[in-house]
Amino acid sequence: MDREFLSNQAKSILRANWRDGFTIPTGKLYPFQWNWDSGFVSIGLGHYTIEKAILEIGTLFSGQWANGMVPHILFHSEKEKSYFPNYDFWESQVNPGAPDKPKSSGITQPPVHGFVLENLLQLHPDNERLHRFIKKYFSKILAYHRFLYQYRDPEREGLIFIYHPWESGRDNSPIWDESLDRIEIDYNQLPPYQRRDTSVANASERPTSYQYDRYVYLLQLGKKYRYDGPEIYQESPFLVQDNMMNAILIKSNESLIRLGKRFGLNTKEVEEWQQQSKRVFDQKLWEESLGTYTSYDLRGNKRMKYKEIGGIVSLFASIPNKEKAKRINDYLMSLHDRGYYLCPSFDPDSSLFDSKRYWRGPIWPQMNWMIYKGLLNYDYHETASIVRGDILELVSKLGFYEYFESRKSDIETISKGYGGGNFSWTASTIFDLISVK
Ligand code: GLC
Repeated sequence: MDREFLSNQAKSILRANWRDGFTIPTGKLYPFQWNWDSGFVSIGLGHYTIEKAILEIGTLFSGQWANGMVPHILFHSEKEKSYFPNYDFWESQVNPGAPDKPKSSGITQPPVHGFVLENLLQLHPDNERLHRFIKKYFSKILAYHRFLYQYRDPEREGLIFIYHPWESGRDNSPIWDESLDRIEIDYNQLPPYQRRDTSVANASERPTSYQYDRYVYLLQLGKKYRYDGPEIYQESPFLVQDNMMNAILIKSNESLIRLGKRFGLNTKEVEEWQQQSKRVFDQKLWEESLGTYTSYDLRGNKRMKYKEIGGIVSLFASIPNKEKAKRINDYLMSLHDRGYYLCPSFDPDSSLFDSKRYWRGPIWPQMNWMIYKGLLNYDYHETASIVRGDILELVSKLGFYEYFESRKSDIETISKGYGGGNFSWTASTIFDLISVK
């Protein structure tokens, strides 16, 4: 690995993807600002320009709705037409609390911003501008978490639900198949639409049209109820307490508590959420027969029994006890011993595994970043260094792509990664990982 070469490449990608106040994930495929992408990007920017790192998050929160939600996409340019579903399809104005500008989607994504700010503070402990920013944005992030607890946890259980696979960040993971299969599409009702992604990326690496019809169906359902109406909880065929979404919320809660204490801010509310969420996550989502945390299907009233990458993120949020963490670590080591790069996004032993298709098996850089940190929380240094080394090797060999082949035996025959190229969160997380000696 040539550290200097990688960091120069990473920096030039982040520079090229910078627009006016934010970073796009990648040129052709995703030409706007994405919620959790921006969080990860901010960490990379933080290494060489704290001003841009701050601005990235500031711009993202300029799209926050009055109900507290931070949308999953901000359409800063209304002229850019190369993406579907664009702002005119989402019609975020159906919700009176959605800002007129920037236009946005109507759903959210994993709430990474609490831990992102804490990471920036670790990089710049004495930067006063950053201190002021954290003090100001603490309440905005708190309002975002409050939105999640109020609107996405109507039973006040401590776990929040998602009603669209895109909210999980793992768009077409096989975990969602069963819930999507529940949706009967009436083609007289589904508005006509044209996908754009398959004309800019290889269709075999993207979700299928069967899945896309269902994504559009759920989008329409959200829109019908202004994206935050209680009817969504009552009616959505897709209603899931996602393990990763909740683990990331818990991780960000923990960061908010520490930041709040450091800057003398009120942390009572977030401490209450945290206590309940951490306990219920561990009790409700752990599946002993698989040795991992699962997501919970609120429509089917059952755990979704799959081994997949979301459960591993629990380590990042320090949720499992030592025994449970050991089972997760042993699992990762067994995949490593059997010739997989760490960490495949889905269980290689399942018939639903596909090492090339998006969230059904490939390796994702930002996931490795979280899992690397998670393993260190439990002193699994050897596994952590494999997780770090694997992603550095993949990027060195195949370029700064969106995601990567997970079978080592296949790697000799391919010359690039999958999905979009010159990808921002790949650049950003690599930047951070190579800064570790
Ligand atoms: C895809 C990913 C999602 C990401 C977005 C932009 O939709 O599944 O997690 O935020 O691309 O990179």
